[in-house]
Formats: sequence, structure tokens, C-alpha cells
Amino acid sequence: MGVKDEVFDEIERIEAEIRRREKEYYTKKALEEAYNPKNVGRIEDADCFGRVTGPCGDTMEIYMRVIDGKIEDCKFLTDGCGATIACGSVLTEMLKGKTLEDAAKIKPEDILSVLGGLPPENLHCPVLAVRTLNAALENFRRRRSRRQVAGSERDLRNE
Ligand code: FES
Repeated sequence: MGVKDEVFDEIERIEAEIRRREKEYYTKKALEEAYNPKNVGRIEDADCFGRVTGPCGDTMEIYMRVIDGKIEDCKFLTDGCGATIACGSVLTEMLKGKTLEDAAKIKPEDILSVLGGLPPENLHCPVLAVRTLNAALENFRRRRSRRQVAGSERDLRNE
């Protein structure tokens, strides 16, 4: 066996060990969402956007398209861990079709319950996801009030 084969064997052994350990710590659902996340990316011309960096230094971004007070589309990006990717995937799936009022009621525990829990060292990951959602909702409110002010200034000028 050449050196190259030995290196490949070692890589395979390490990967198998990582997969075995992951299964000990993470639920099947969390691993599924981390390896095949939904709604990853940006929305061009999104109606609102949030970006938050958590205490661990990882950042999440959420983009939303809102029509008549309902979230029609939602995407996320993160440079965070697999658990954060899983949280972003679950959260964006939850958000689609929700009103902004209902979106504001989502808590980190709701994400955890879909994932079937996370290890203690990852409990801040759903918190980061919900903080990013709240930043996006706040961004939507600010943009809307700016539009309203601009609209009423226009109306005043036209009177
Ligand atoms: Fe930083 Fe998951 S958000 S470890």
C-alpha cells in the first residue's frame, strides 16, 4: 500500500469516526438539516434583512420577501456551525407563509423542538437564529415607517 492509499484510508477512518460521534450528539433531524439545509442564500431586493453576530463570533443573515403582511419567501446565510445551519433551515421553513405578527412569536425553543433538541454547547445557535429574525422584523418596521413618512411628505407637497 502506497503513502497516498494510507492517507486516504486515514481520512476515511477519521470521517467515519466524526459521523459516529455526530450521531451520539445530534438527532437524525438535526443532522439532516445541517447536511441538506433549505433556503440557503440571499433574496435580491428583499423587503427586509437582518444580520446578527452571536457571542461565539458566528454570524447569521436572514432575508425576507413580504407581501400583504405575509412572509412569501425567506432565505438565510451563516458562517456558523452545523447546528446553526440546521437552525437557519428549520426557522426559514417555519417562516414561509406566516404573518409578521406570528413570526415575531417564534422562540428558540420552537426551533429546538423541531430539531429534537441540541447538545448544551449548541443551545445558543437557535438563539442566534431568532435574534437574526427579530433584526429582520425590526428592519421591516423601520423601512415601512420611512416609506410612510416619505408618503405623507409627498401628500403634503401635493396639497
Ligand atoms: Fe456559534 Fe453555533 S452559532 S457555534
